[in-house]
Amino acid sequence: MEDSGSAEIAKLREQIESLKQQLVQAQRLTALGELVGTTTHEFNNVLMTIINYAKMGIRHKDAPTRNKCFDKIFNAGNRAAKITNTVLGMARNRSAGQEPTDLKLLIENTLLLLEREMNKYRITLDKSFPEIPQAFIDGNQIQQVLLNLLINARQAMPRGGRLAIKLRHDAEEDMIDLIVRDYGAGIPAEKLPRIFDSFYTTKSGPDASGKGGTGLGLSMCRDIIEAHHGRIQVQSTVGKGTAFTLKLPTVTKATRKCAPVVVPVTSVPGAVGQPMVSGK
Ligand SMILES: Nc1ncnc2c1ncn2[C@@H]1O[C@H](COP(=O)(O)OP(=O)(O)OP(=O)(O)O)[C@@H](O)[C@H]1O
Ligand SMILES: [Mg+2]
Repeated sequence: MEDSGSAEIAKLREQIESLKQQLVQAQRLTALGELVGTTTHEFNNVLMTIINYAKMGIRHKDAPTRNKCFDKIFNAGNRAAKITNTVLGMARNRSAGQEPTDLKLLIENTLLLLEREMNKYRITLDKSFPEIPQAFIDGNQIQQVLLNLLINARQAMPRGGRLAIKLRHDAEEDMIDLIVRDYGAGIPAEKLPRIFDSFYTTKSGPDASGKGGTGLGLSMCRDIIEAHHGRIQVQSTVGKGTAFTLKLPTVTKATRKCAPVVVPVTSVPGAVGQPMVSGK
């Protein structure tokens, strides 16, 4: 009797494990689907630039105009190559795992994919990228996190607004803080503890750009950040906006190979108020 009970429990555990694996796979595909949607638009944009400048070059025979056209075509071509490389990297999940990474470059590459979308929704970007040590991260995974945070922020400001992205070195903990702050709708205090739950969403479905609504974004972000021995924290005030802070290890911190230090959550200087909820 007891034996059959523990066999049953073992079987259920196995099933849960298998379902978890399937969920992780589904989350990856969702993120990839979003990325492909975004990049197809962006890629089309670049192709239009190339076609239009090629036409101009064919029409105008003078050297200065042609040189300008070649310049524009060259730049657009480079941009197209960067875009496809990003998608291919993510599709193959080609990541070499966690490695020293320039976060500024990673953010710029991610913003490249969202440029058109941010313009369309009249979002202005405020970037603050001082010189900081390299982070020890899986670039593809952190890019997925960033995409979700940036798209969430954009969706919180349906009539446009300001989105601030900031990097800083927390010297005390030797961690890199990556802050994504919007000045949008904010999250009511009673909902804040639920936002990292799988399938928790307040969106009725994908928006006009086909984004959002599964409620897996932040739970995926939390899983990825935990796998990096980092933390994800949020502060929000209704009507004022929301700030997400990612704390990621520097190369020196990660290679010191000591157990991750658990530091109590304290307030982030300059954050937008209200209680802070940690995704961990
Ligand atoms: N920047 C933000 N401002 C306001 N609310 C937010 C913000 N970020 C997240 N939320 C709230 O948290 C919920 C969960 O976010 P999450 O990214 O996990 O899912 P989602 O965006 O609804 O769907 P998806 O899985 O497609 O990302 C959102 O539905 C929204 O209510
Ligand atoms: Mg989301």
